[in-house]
Amino acid sequence: MGEKVRLRHVAVAVESIDAALPLWKALGLELRHTEDVPSEGVRTAHLAAGGSEVELLEPLTRDTPVGRFLERQGPGLHHIALEVSDLAAALARCADAGLRPLSGDARDGAEGSRVAFFHPRDTGGVLLELVEPAPKPV
Ligand code: CO
Repeated sequence: MGEKVRLRHVAVAVESIDAALPLWKALGLELRHTEDVPSEGVRTAHLAAGGSEVELLEPLTRDTPVGRFLERQGPGLHHIALEVSDLAAALARCADAGLRPLSGDARDGAEGSRVAFFHPRDTGGVLLELVEPAPKPV
């Protein structure tokens, strides 16, 4: 049985979430959640877009991956995130295919999720995130 994978979000790097929000709200997207993720050096804003989201990324400092991204190429499309139900299994499949995540392993993401990133040089030019959501409270 194949695992269910879905497009979880498309992430856009911005200088300022506050400055970027009016555009996305004008497009009809609703702000659902904002959160600082110190492990990634970013503030995030998640906007609902159908069953997926647009994730805005604002660097907490310049010396972070998103800060350096903005320095290098300015604001714009940053990564896409695919949601998997079992990140360890997904990473094992990727390892079998010769694909290793940045930083070697999964780490903590927003809202209690676990995430792993793959470098664009290994994925045809797209920074790719795999996300296993936090277990839903019962
Ligand atoms: Co993301």
